[in-house]
Amino acid sequence: MSRLIVRPSGPLSGEVVIGGAKNSALKLMAATLLAPGRYVLRNVPDIADVDTMSQLLEAIGCSVRRREDDALEIERPQRVTPEAPYELVEQMRASTAVLGPLLASEGRASVAKPGGDNFGDRPIDMHLRSLEQLGATFELSHGVIEGRADGLVGRPQVLEYPSVGATENLLMAAVLASGTTTIENAACEPEIADLAAFLNRMGAHVLGAGSPTITIEGVETLHPVEHVTIPDRIEVATYLSAVGVAGGEVTLRGARSDHLEILIERMGHMGLRISPEADGLWVRGPERPRATDLVTLPYPGLATDHLPLLVAVLSIADGTSFATENVFANRFRYVGELGRMGANIRVDGHHLVIDGVDRLEGAPVQAVDIRAGAALVVAGLGADGETVIHDAHHVDRGYASLVEQLARLGADISRDT
Ligand code: EPU
Repeated sequence: MSRLIVRPSGPLSGEVVIGGAKNSALKLMAATLLAPGRYVLRNVPDIADVDTMSQLLEAIGCSVRRREDDALEIERPQRVTPEAPYELVEQMRASTAVLGPLLASEGRASVAKPGGDNFGDRPIDMHLRSLEQLGATFELSHGVIEGRADGLVGRPQVLEYPSVGATENLLMAAVLASGTTTIENAACEPEIADLAAFLNRMGAHVLGAGSPTITIEGVETLHPVEHVTIPDRIEVATYLSAVGVAGGEVTLRGARSDHLEILIERMGHMGLRISPEADGLWVRGPERPRATDLVTLPYPGLATDHLPLLVAVLSIADGTSFATENVFANRFRYVGELGRMGANIRVDGHHLVIDGVDRLEGAPVQAVDIRAGAALVVAGLGADGETVIHDAHHVDRGYASLVEQLARLGADISRDT
């Protein structure tokens, strides 16, 4: 199992290039199941989760190839096997994104039921209920969700919570349903707008994606297209947090400030200077970060994926910070790992009280998920001695070149395989 070794670093300087958004690319890949033909997806990050989604599409019958120009080419044949096996769903929950497109295009989908994960119990009840409203039926048989749809029919829907995954599955099913579907209380994340732009390019009629009300007018057929994935806003937060801890001046090429307004505002409170540039963001780190309060919420609120990174910065801030996690029930496993490094953080339900310490100490720690692993890398940059991050494969699920890019900025980081 690979490990990452991080030593005290900084000030960082130079430029990093922000890759395509994992959470957009995975759904764009699933959406290629909607119509046969050859798709070209650009700016798809070369990460383990994209490999898992490629394996899933191949298991279904597609061929997936990374071209020399780095674009991902997906050939969706006329006939596919609409099944997502346990081995792949268990590795990556985003596999459930094939449910909507397979039901819409094949009238059938068998998807292994995802279990709990490091964020607690993560049900997909909303995905199923909203697809049922379009006329799909589901049965759970031996751990597999067997879905059927004999012609989906568009309908008005109100989501009880703006779930990203439920909005996406519903969107991908509704584009081929007959009639009009409206989604109220839809998730507004930039990745939803990216998916809708892709679907519209394929010939769908989707209006309002990126806002809480989406209207989808079903069409009879769709066609394959080329598309460029939006930049990864969580990767941006990772490098901003690295500069927050290690100091220095860095340019983040490709970052989109319009997707990061609350993050930029909050990090400004923490003492970082961040300003938009023609094609990205420029950031300067503080002498020492300042304490601040954080609350995660669905977009445009502060992203739950940003919180572990920001908590790593606040653990060495001047003063006491309060943070509240509202999106996932159990996303604080990384806090104990930061505690091993000397962070002074108290967990109280879904709140954290973070008393900033002067310095962290390097220690052996474990990456329990993608962002937890990245947060430990960030913390390690500001810790005395050596931080050894075990289970680094979690980090590779979401980052194509974190180690290389941080090293290029001057960070003392390496991989030990
Ligand atoms: N929820 C339900 N029932 C459902 C669906 C969701 O109770 O049917 C709950 C979840 O348990 C959670 C909340 O609703 O408490 C939010 O879940 P949501 O559906 O919005 O999230 P997701 O689609 O499962 C995506 C990202 C996550 C990101 C969240 C929130 C992907 C592949 N994953 O998950 O990203 O944290 O949205 O923005 O798009 C990551 O990249 O590391 C990551 C975890």
